[in-house]
Amino acid sequence: MIAVENLIKDYGSHRAIDDVSFSMEKGEILGFLGPNGAGKTTMMRILTCCMPATSGRATVAGYDCFDEPLEVRRRIGYLPERVPLYDDMRVSDYLEFVAGMKGMTASSVPDSVRQVAENCGLSDVYGRRIGAISRGYRQRVGLAQALVNDPEILILDEPTVGLDPGQIKEIRALIKDLSGRHTIILSTHILPEVSLLCSKVVIINQGKLVAMDTPENLGAQVGGSSRLLLHIGGPPEQVETALGQVSGVTSVQRDGTSQVDECRFFVDFDQGQNPRKDLQALIAENNWELMEMRSISASLEDVFIKLVTRED
Ligand SMILES: Nc1ncnc2c1ncn2[C@@H]1O[C@H](COP(=O)(O)OP(=O)(O)OP(=O)(O)O)[C@@H](O)[C@H]1O
Ligand SMILES: [Mg+2]
Repeated sequence: MIAVENLIKDYGSHRAIDDVSFSMEKGEILGFLGPNGAGKTTMMRILTCCMPATSGRATVAGYDCFDEPLEVRRRIGYLPERVPLYDDMRVSDYLEFVAGMKGMTASSVPDSVRQVAENCGLSDVYGRRIGAISRGYRQRVGLAQALVNDPEILILDEPTVGLDPGQIKEIRALIKDLSGRHTIILSTHILPEVSLLCSKVVIINQGKLVAMDTPENLGAQVGGSSRLLLHIGGPPEQVETALGQVSGVTSVQRDGTSQVDECRFFVDFDQGQNPRKDLQALIAENNWELMEMRSISASLEDVFIKLVTRED
């Protein structure tokens, strides 16, 4: 549905996108992840035909973003990073105006606009002037204008930025609801958001693609060691030394908030090893109390930090 091949974008002498290739299928939700300045917005602006790439190729629904921009735009709903809104218009008038601009027939506009406003939680501000609504509601208006003509493809640049936690939950549910019927690319800094919403993640850093996979596989790919959390009743220093001597264990870290007679430890071991039984035996032999033992897998946050700093 969307294919990007060897895409390069230079702003003067600064290379903002550096030879990026990826593709995605219909119905997928792709999460675009990267630190500030990574090139996420630049990539979205190229895919939405707001500006051309320096070289390489991008196609959307089989149409070339450079040669056939009108065909591409007809199929895309775009929520830009900074939503350009007309402050003097009412929410309802603005959405009707956008629907008309997108070529919807006059008879279908009122119903579609009312529906999308309701879906985006805009009913309360429907008749208000845009200049007088709060930032979170402006963001919702931005999302509503992207959705109004029910486009096949949605490109959403940080859709939940500026929303309160309740609104974030609602907008995530709305995006999740749109998946399947729509193909969606979204960028975000909120890592759990990617795990919650996306079937695929692209991580870019300084314009380069550093990883592309499912959120689950990314965790496994970056792993290399595994970690257990152990909460043990016993003298912390003695326990720490003994844990470090168990076969397969590569490091032991004591939790800073340890008490005199109990403590939590992070125990790392090589992948492929399973020191759990030996750890249990050690604890039993010493008559210590095992209060908790559980695996901690690499979170997307760990993966992100690891990949991004590795590139640096
Ligand atoms: N119009 C422009 N002219 C010159 N340089 C630009 C322009 N727009 C972006 N850049 C530069 O290109 C790089 C990528 O910017 P971009 O806005 O795509 O990053 P981003 O990943 O969206 O960051 P953020 O998370 O802060 O939104 C940055 O170094 C930025 O300074
Ligand atoms: Mg951006």
